[in-house]
Amino acid sequence: MLEVRGLTRSFGGLKAVDGVDLDVPEGAIVGLIGPNGAGKTTCFAAIAGFVRPDAGSVRFAGRDVTGHAPHLVARAGMVRTFQITQPFARLSVRENVMVGAWLRHGRRAEAEEAADRVACSVGMGAMLDMRAGDLTVAGRKRLELARALATSPRLLLLDEVMAGLNPTEVAEIVGVVRAIRDGGVTILLIEHVMQAVVSLAEHVHVLNQGRIIARGTPAAIAADPAVVEAYLGHGAAARLAGGGGGG
Ligand SMILES: Nc1ncnc2c1ncn2[C@@H]1O[C@H](COP(=O)(O)OP(=O)(O)O)[C@@H](O)[C@H]1O
Ligand SMILES: [Mg+2]
Repeated sequence: MLEVRGLTRSFGGLKAVDGVDLDVPEGAIVGLIGPNGAGKTTCFAAIAGFVRPDAGSVRFAGRDVTGHAPHLVARAGMVRTFQITQPFARLSVRENVMVGAWLRHGRRAEAEEAADRVACSVGMGAMLDMRAGDLTVAGRKRLELARALATSPRLLLLDEVMAGLNPTEVAEIVGVVRAIRDGGVTILLIEHVMQAVVSLAEHVHVLNQGRIIARGTPAAIAADPAVVEAYLGHGAAARLAGGGGGG
């Protein structure tokens, strides 16, 4: 469903994303993990049209969407969430979700109905009239999810929707994400926290310093010394293995 080839984007002299290849099959939950600053968010931004790639291509549902504007990409059925959520604080949860729903619904009543339905599906049914600015961190993450989902995507790019949540909240969101996929939406999931990815994704890509350094099942990834080193530093794999290696 999504085919990314050679995706590259620099900021000044820094190659934030450096030749990334990524495939997401329809119906899957695919994870994109990596330490802070690895280039995960920049990858999403370049895929979804928020920054223009310097090189590479993005094909979505058989169409080349490289460099297309975000609203066109969203209309084609691919939408991202933001790691740093910025809801309209003075608007209600319902009104915030409607911002997404307007993409598919021209009439207010329809957009409102769609927003209510989506909000309920992510467990926000009781919060529809709350001001978005009064939500907890977990509530804001759910709202971000609902706003994206209200655009009726075929592919949802989730950027750290579990960051900052406690274990109970993470477990709830994991359930919500799984239900979204079971409802027919394909998911590419960025997480800094490996645990959440392990429980959700069938396939994981690991990004470090702009490059994919490993890919495979969560179990294979967790056992990969290159991945352990990317997260914990040079020599960490040997130390963990009890080899007493230096570093
Ligand atoms: N708009 C930007 N301008 C300059 N540097 C940026 C910008 N966005 C990201 N970067 C840099 O690119 C690198 C990758 O960032 P990012 O994609 O946010 O990583 P991640 O999401 O994996 O933590 C970081 O070094 C970051 O400082
Ligand atoms: Mg990020």
